[in-house]
Amino acid sequence: MITLKKVDTKNLWKIVRLKVREDQRDFVASNAESIMEAYVYTQAGAVAQPFGIYADDTPVGFVMFGYGDLPEEENPAIAAGNYSIWRFMIDEKQQGKGYAKEAMQAALEYIRTFPCGPADCCWLSYEPENTAAKTLYHRVGFQENGETDGDEIVAVLPLNGKS
Ligand SMILES: CC(C)(COP(=O)(O)OP(=O)(O)OC[C@H]1O[C@@H](n2cnc3c(N)ncnc32)[C@H](O)[C@@H]1OP(=O)(O)O)[C@@H](O)C(=O)NCCC(=O)NCCS
Repeated sequence: MITLKKVDTKNLWKIVRLKVREDQRDFVASNAESIMEAYVYTQAGAVAQPFGIYADDTPVGFVMFGYGDLPEEENPAIAAGNYSIWRFMIDEKQQGKGYAKEAMQAALEYIRTFPCGPADCCWLSYEPENTAAKTLYHRVGFQENGETDGDEIVAVLPLNGKS
C-alpha cells in the first residue's frame, strides 16, 4: 500500500538517496535540491511540503507540495491561491510497478484535505518531452490549461469545491 510520510530527521537520507534514471535527470531536480528549496522557500514565507512516497515500509519516491505563488518568481496565473505538485518522482528501481499512479492518488487525497487553505485547483508542470509524466498526469485527470512555467507545460485538476 502506498502512503506519504513527511520528510523528517528519521527518513531524510533515505529519501535523498532515491534517484531517477540518468535519462530522466533533466525532468526533475534531485531530492536533495528539492528539500533545500523547501527550506529556503519556507523561510521566505512560501509553502513547500516535502514527503516521501512509501510502498509499505519502503521509501520508493518523493513528492513536494506547494500552495500559492512563490516569492520573487514568475508564477503562472494558476498558482495564486491554488495547490501545486511541485516535485514528483519514483526511484529508478521502483518504476513501472504502478506506484506513481497510486502515489498521485494519495497526493490528491492529501490536497483535498486543504491543509494550507481553500483552493479551486491543483496544478503541476512537465517538460514537453516527458511523455511518461504527461500520460500519468492525464490518467489521474490533469489537463493542460494553455499556460507554461518556464519551458514546462502546465496542467490543472479542479478540486471540486473549496474546504
Ligand atoms: C513519471 C514517473 C513518476 C512514472 O512512475 P512509475 O512508477 O513508473 O509509473 P506507474 O508504474 O505508476 O505508471 C503510471 C502511469 O504512468 C504512465 N507511464 C509510466 N511510464 C510510462 C512510459 N514510459 N511511457 C508512457 N507512459 C508511462 C502510464 O500511463 C502508467 O499507467 P498505465 O500503465 O495504466 O498506462 C517516473 O517515470 C519518474 O519518476 N520519472 C522521472 C521523474 C519525473 O519525470 N517526474 C515528473 C516530473 S514532471
